[in-house]
Amino acid sequence: MDTKIFGHRGAAGTHPENTMISFQQAKKVGADGIELDVQLSSDGVPVVIHDEKVDRTTDGSGFVKDKKMEELKQLNAVFKFKQFDFCPIPTLQEVLEWASQTTLLINIELKNSVIAYEGLEEKVVELVKLYKVEKQTIFSSFNHYSISKLHRIAPHIEKAILYSEGLFEPWNYAHVVGAQSLHPNKGVATKAIVKAAGSKGIQVRPYTVNDERTMKKMFAMNVSGFFTDYPEKALQIREKIES
Ligand code: G3P
Ligand code: MG
Repeated sequence: MDTKIFGHRGAAGTHPENTMISFQQAKKVGADGIELDVQLSSDGVPVVIHDEKVDRTTDGSGFVKDKKMEELKQLNAVFKFKQFDFCPIPTLQEVLEWASQTTLLINIELKNSVIAYEGLEEKVVELVKLYKVEKQTIFSSFNHYSISKLHRIAPHIEKAILYSEGLFEPWNYAHVVGAQSLHPNKGVATKAIVKAAGSKGIQVRPYTVNDERTMKKMFAMNVSGFFTDYPEKALQIREKIES
């Protein structure tokens, strides 16, 4: 089966999201790829965290953009998974250093639709080039100006538009923005869209697919991939379908 399984924020259903232990878990269970969210610290370092504020997932409070990397590094991002020890917020550099030793696909989501981090695109592209992971990387963002900018500065790296509404003929829109793939919310990823996009060479990878019924539906639709907090479960279902 061609459908690739991406561990969303690593293996966020069972491990502290967007931490090294979570990405390592996704690899351990055999995921094809990982997804991670990137923002900028106050001193301009790309750091891996989902929310604009650290409050939900760490023992700290306040905006990521107001804290230096060293301050962010003191925080414990163990979130609700208290059985784990101290889990620091990784920098993008740390994740890429590790992922570059693997064959994992790496979906780097630029979290810049609420705060337009100045220079985020350039910094992220620079790191991807430094670790020579261009071929295994997919950039995505809900901020499509950012995707268009990435298309200008890194034309050879795959880019995907993230969206959650009923975008009209998204395969045409993706082309305008300079994206090669669609990352829709699972609710708006229809069979017709997957088919039409596929005929134009546009890949579709819905998010975030956590229940067995929807996973089976995604496999039946033959999507290029999907994001899940439970990569182990998705792999078991895929293996069952294949056997
Ligand atoms: O990249 C897929 C998915 O992560 C997008 O939504 O909010 O989980 O980052 P979110
Ligand atoms: Mg994300």
